[in-house]
Amino acid sequence: MKIIVTKDYEELSASAAKVMLEVVKNNPYAVLGLATGTTPLGLYAYMIADHEKYGTSYAHVRTANLDEYKGLAKTHPQSYAYFMRKNLFDGLDIDPENTNIENGMAEDEAKECARYDELLEQLPRDIQLLGLGSNGHIAFNEPGTPFGSGTHVVTLAESTVKDNARLFDDISEVPRKAFTMGIRQIMQAKKILILASGANKAEAVCKMAKGEVTESVPASVLQLHPDCTLIVDRAAAANL
Ligand code: F6R
Repeated sequence: MKIIVTKDYEELSASAAKVMLEVVKNNPYAVLGLATGTTPLGLYAYMIADHEKYGTSYAHVRTANLDEYKGLAKTHPQSYAYFMRKNLFDGLDIDPENTNIENGMAEDEAKECARYDELLEQLPRDIQLLGLGSNGHIAFNEPGTPFGSGTHVVTLAESTVKDNARLFDDISEVPRKAFTMGIRQIMQAKKILILASGANKAEAVCKMAKGEVTESVPASVLQLHPDCTLIVDRAAAANL
């Protein structure tokens, strides 16, 4: 795992943008695996600024997101589909038809997971962007998830519900279940870019990068990926 430590969140976002933009500029038909959450917001702002200033085109780019809350429609302001439109896609020339995410409203869970698995097979990702949960999760693969897992429905860990409550009016509104891409499919990406910022991620960063490779720290599997870059700010790198 290649580790880049930056001074702060701003530098982390600029450094992440360099990695992501290299992929898009080298291949106009790139397939991007994308993440939601607070961490990639700075990177997404850089991608939009670059598109506006230099005209980098996403007209042929396709995307697949990691996860979606169960029970939230894509028009719901807290859904990840909405998040992606608002924070990235609306600022680019990407065709909405080329963006993919699980359907949080799907009633048949098994069918929806199979649909997404099939889609991911057809869409080998050139790069997979990840954030890191404070409990070591990647996507919504919570501690204990088998490394061989495919798309599945997960009951969110209590710590994840608490972490994500800041984005809702009240903790009772945070969905308890989500669809998530599996660890197997994350590991299939050609390149992985994982970002972590802030002191509350320091312990998870250390376990992921320097600890034992174990299913109780899902992100530790990334030590086995041949091309994984971790970008962390100083606060998140404190225990390395
Ligand atoms: C988001 C996702 C999650 C987040 C993680 C960190 O699509 O899959 O694994 O990346 O929970 O979230 P933030 O960036 O909000 O700290």
